[in-house]
Amino acid sequence: MKILGIETSCDETAAAVVEDGIKVHSNVIASSMDLHTKTGGVVPEVAAREHLKQINPVIDEALEKAGVGWGDIDAIAVTHAPGLIASLLVGVNTAQALSYLYQKPLIPTHHIAGHIYANFLERSEPIQFPILVLTVSGGHNELVRLKGHHEFESIGETLDDAAGEAFDKVARMLGLGYPGGPIISKRAAAGNPAAFNFPRVHLDKNNRYNFSFSGLKSAVLRQVENLTKEGATLRRAQDHSRLLSETDINNLAASFQAAVIDVLSDKLVAAAEAFDVKEVHLAGGVSANQSLRQAVTEKLNDRLPLCMPQKLIYCTDNAAMIAGAAYFCIKNTGSL
Ligand code: KG4
Ligand code: ZN
Repeated sequence: MKILGIETSCDETAAAVVEDGIKVHSNVIASSMDLHTKTGGVVPEVAAREHLKQINPVIDEALEKAGVGWGDIDAIAVTHAPGLIASLLVGVNTAQALSYLYQKPLIPTHHIAGHIYANFLERSEPIQFPILVLTVSGGHNELVRLKGHHEFESIGETLDDAAGEAFDKVARMLGLGYPGGPIISKRAAAGNPAAFNFPRVHLDKNNRYNFSFSGLKSAVLRQVENLTKEGATLRRAQDHSRLLSETDINNLAASFQAAVIDVLSDKLVAAAEAFDVKEVHLAGGVSANQSLRQAVTEKLNDRLPLCMPQKLIYCTDNAAMIAGAAYFCIKNTGSL
């Protein structure tokens, strides 16, 4: 079964054609990130207007690259939530119009289910349930037990910021621009992770599998202020960052990243040991982080199979994951 996936929940306009939830025939992504880099974050109105410009050409390109016409498409899947409302509306309205025009079933798909199903794209080994998934993205941070297809059990979540959001905000404090994850990890590679002892918040036993990153973010801000002599007279974090040396920035990035990764990997591995699971998965934009991948691999130490998206483009927002999640939803419910 070939599904056309459409994803417009944030700043990526994406369309893909995926067969049986695994075989990716095309995966087209037009990003408006350059526009948001200038503003230091996504401006919802700007993102929605870019989606409007891009959506039709991106869908056409996805069909063309897959070498298929509308007659070959069995269903249309579209992200319906969560996300920026104006951005979601562009994708949903387009999908509804195409579904009506070409008489194709429409499958509304949850964005985080999409991130979870990104791990099955191009997978050749059989799937072994239950699976423990750590979803870490800009807006989402959750530990989920996948008992069977589309049977999600939430084990823990963030009580404040998501890990990706913390990466983005700290990058802003350090004057590194948006999005924060890739540039922080690059600068961290040149820094000392032990330069600053930032808090690792593990929370009390009732919150053993929940996360909190707002205290860490404040600790980085206080350190930035301490490192900049004129700190007291400056109002905005971005102004401080201009006074930091390159070494300070690298060390702050490395120490911050180490603190986030310690918490994420500790909690994931502890949950893998405490719950009955046969596989462990990393999903979402932050799962592109090589140090996180390495830390989880080392701490898990081959006790359970570890699965991460096959390609880095499947970590961040894309439409192949939406088509994949929709396929397994149909397979699970047995209906279109
Ligand atoms: O999944 P995603 O594309 O969008 C959301 O659903 O939020 O995730 C985007 C997030 C951003 O916060 C970005 O900074 C983070 O993923 N990210 C990373 C890396 N690449 C992207 N964080 C850490 N290290 C990376 N290499
Ligand atoms: Zn996402």
